[in-house]
Amino acid sequence: MKIFAHRGYSKKYPENTCIAFQKAAALDIFGVEFDVHLTADHQLVVIHDETIDRTSTGTGFIKDMTLAELEKYDYGRWFGEQFAGQKIPTLREVLTIFTETQHVLNIEIKSDIFEYEGIEQLIAQEIDDFGMHERVIVSSFNHESIQRFHQFHPTIQTAVLFSSLVTNIEHYVKTIHSGALHIWYFHANRKIIRDALANGATIRAFTVNDVKIAKELQTLGVEAIFTDAPGVMLAGL
Ligand code: G3P
Ligand code: CA
Repeated sequence: MKIFAHRGYSKKYPENTCIAFQKAAALDIFGVEFDVHLTADHQLVVIHDETIDRTSTGTGFIKDMTLAELEKYDYGRWFGEQFAGQKIPTLREVLTIFTETQHVLNIEIKSDIFEYEGIEQLIAQEIDDFGMHERVIVSSFNHESIQRFHQFHPTIQTAVLFSSLVTNIEHYVKTIHSGALHIWYFHANRKIIRDALANGATIRAFTVNDVKIAKELQTLGVEAIFTDAPGVMLAGL
């Protein structure tokens, strides 16, 4: 089963920071997942929430702050004093960490709350600048974002994220030109997903931190898991 480090090696290091990605890059896993937002001055940054309140020493919405303003704060100390000094990574900085590795990068466009006009084209351009189009999967809970991304870059793999399932899901995914479904792991045993798997759909499941559950998903035919604990999964699977 393929293992993606979720938000980098986020069980042991502050999520979506350079140290979490460097530690994931050192592991013999399939890939890494991370989240991208757009700043007020149109810079792509890697962070999970729409605000910096939970994971930094600052407060405020990313959409309202410039990269220079965001860089004033610390993004490691909330996780542990030993991680003080981590700053908010740009997408460019994260891609740079993986230039010399073989990891597949799952870039999640966090455009489901704020649409971040133009974010899809900026991400497509960055992937091209790094020549990484063959080892990237672009996903989003905002399926319009995936449709827009597909228009800009039809050859890059995409995936649609589902927080709840829809009827006729296999047909729906095809209408978005998406190659895979990313689902909550506890939806994997639903009939609609088992049917999709039987028909050859690519299903990846988040966020799985228990080896026993990962093994059950593997038996069902789930292709990959996103995990905060890639070291535990490597040892257990
Ligand atoms: O991409 C899988 C997973 O990361 C989606 O949920 O909230 O962790 O971004 P979330
Ligand atoms: Ca994510």
